[in-house]
Amino acid sequence: MSILDHWHPVALSRDLGKTPLGVRLHGRELALFRPKSGGVAALTDVCPHRRMRLSVGKVVGDCLECCYHGWTFAADGSGESPGTPKLRTRAAAYEVREAHGVLWVRNFGANTRFPDDFVGQEQGYRLMVLLAHDVSSPLELVLDNFNELEHTPTTHGMFGYRLDRMHEVQAEFSPSDDEVWIEYHGPSKAYPWLFRTYMGLDRAPIFHVRGVTRYSPVHTFGDYHWTHSRTGKRSWIGVRNAHFFTPLDDGNTRIFTFSFMKLSNPCFNPILNVVRPFMRHSINKEVMEDKRVLDGLADKTPTLDGLKLSRFDRVLGLNRERIERVYRREKPSTLHSGNGSCRCGELNGAHEKRFTMAPAKPDRTADIT
Ligand code: FES
Ligand SMILES: [Fe+2]
Repeated sequence: MSILDHWHPVALSRDLGKTPLGVRLHGRELALFRPKSGGVAALTDVCPHRRMRLSVGKVVGDCLECCYHGWTFAADGSGESPGTPKLRTRAAAYEVREAHGVLWVRNFGANTRFPDDFVGQEQGYRLMVLLAHDVSSPLELVLDNFNELEHTPTTHGMFGYRLDRMHEVQAEFSPSDDEVWIEYHGPSKAYPWLFRTYMGLDRAPIFHVRGVTRYSPVHTFGDYHWTHSRTGKRSWIGVRNAHFFTPLDDGNTRIFTFSFMKLSNPCFNPILNVVRPFMRHSINKEVMEDKRVLDGLADKTPTLDGLKLSRFDRVLGLNRERIERVYRREKPSTLHSGNGSCRCGELNGAHEKRFTMAPAKPDRTADIT
């Protein structure tokens, strides 16, 4: 199995118009275009004639015409030369699907499930925001950031936990063979009065996150809600954020963010159209804050060797093992030393064990290395 057998999101639908679009996926350059008769096609972005970029060509009928000598290529990659009509060629072609506002690509003939597990329509979620951000960090480090929430007090301005009460936050990780569930509960940051009133929250609500990470392709999605700190009453708004992580190459990753919202009473759903611009601004700001730290990391080696990991970082090792085994389809033997000090961050063969991390005492240093 090749890594390109997974359905990777590569571009937002709105970014592909009448002209071709060049995108990158695992170090390969692809040219996307819309054939006139419908659908979307993806070819390698190199003309087999003299290696011009096909993405700077133009769409003619159902074909992509190379701008250098005018050779044309159909969606299946078959090409012909106008100057030498019997000279046929072929450019590598990929299967494309357009769904949920995104263009997804995989190898033709691959037998992988389309990853639409995140949508949540049956649970009442409505898509509010769809964004793409490029960060200059490898896949593993980007996923780290979206699965541990210890960074939220200092990295983020709005969502997440309070730094002075971070030790009260419960973190629970539940791995199975091909997914890892994460759960966080703890004192939220304080919100502005208007937001608090809109959400029906008190000054110090409890912030709850429950999510899952899966690896074909690598993506994570989680449900967020708040409860009143004294009454335990649940907020009338729930949020789901889904993030897909597409490696552009070994050191750069594109993050696709789908943000959903649901109201406890669907009669009020028209309000969602009013809050959409605010939500778009907030989600974009939050992801840009993640991008700032990911772009700024001093060392972008994905290994966990030599790091001083906290109780929140257990998920990092769980993810690495599954990225290697499920996503990259590599044998995990290079990750696990078997001598009790595993490179994946787990302790003493505890890879498949359910972890329930009790809140730490304020004066105790959580130390699992
Ligand atoms: S390089 Fe594409 S037609 Fe010649
Ligand atoms: Fe973050």
